[in-house]
Amino acid sequence: MGLATLKEVLAGTRAMGYAVGAFNFNGYEDAQGIVEGAVAKNAPVIVMASVSAVKYIGLRQTAGLVKGIAESVNIPVCLHLDHATDVALIKEAVKAGFTSVMIDASAKDYETNIRETKAVVDFARIYGCSVEAELGKVGGKEENIVVADASATFTDPADVTRFVEETGIDALAVAIGTVHGFYKADPKLDFERLEKIAALTSCPLVLHGGTGVPVEDFKRCVKKGISKINVGTELKATFSDAVRKAVAANPESEFDPRKYVGPVKQACAEVVKGKIDIFGCAGKAWRV
Ligand code: 13P
Repeated sequence: MGLATLKEVLAGTRAMGYAVGAFNFNGYEDAQGIVEGAVAKNAPVIVMASVSAVKYIGLRQTAGLVKGIAESVNIPVCLHLDHATDVALIKEAVKAGFTSVMIDASAKDYETNIRETKAVVDFARIYGCSVEAELGKVGGKEENIVVADASATFTDPADVTRFVEETGIDALAVAIGTVHGFYKADPKLDFERLEKIAALTSCPLVLHGGTGVPVEDFKRCVKKGISKINVGTELKATFSDAVRKAVAANPESEFDPRKYVGPVKQACAEVVKGKIDIFGCAGKAWRV
């Protein structure tokens, strides 16, 4: 089918009450596994490369890898650059074929966030690429971006309308109490705030920090207007666990690397299938 844009995969999510899963990957095995999980559920899927994943794999390699995977399946696959702060890198990603990018200027003041985001949108439009931006600050550690608990701030609904209208973004990441990484205690999500934000804009809303969010909280978020849910850390842990198990299960004489990293595909696919069922996007591939 080839790559789809974020705008395409999120169209109709609010109206039909489901969210599309967005999963971070770091190499071939987890990227392939994520897409295989989505194929098994006939769901659209967003595969996300963080800036450090792009630096690890290579920008063109990342784009080529996911483009090849997308072309070999019959579901819509969106290739998204996650949490980028460097506009030069974003432009390179757009040119390399990413179909969605996140400009994360959430650490900057409101006016700068608007200005930088709008500049990225204007550039991305030329290539038909979608753009996500963030208002408020999601706490925790996302690769190189660390937001201490004290400086995490929830999205102010008063900022939303102007931000969405002036920037022309395709999706808005909101900070409502989730954090990146593993939770020390169950997150306390501000559903009232989410409801207020959703009432102010029809722009698809994004929930970051999906790892460890209880199932019922996910479902409430989707019901109240979340269209895209990011899951990263859980897949990293799944990748590493699968390799550890494979190393333990094979004799030292086994030197075929596929015996060690191959099981990552199935393990990641299983995690993705579970999330797709919770997010309600199984069987929605036809919509795009
Ligand atoms: P987690 O690593 O907490 O799942 O968050 C992922 C994320 O939001 C990526 O942007």
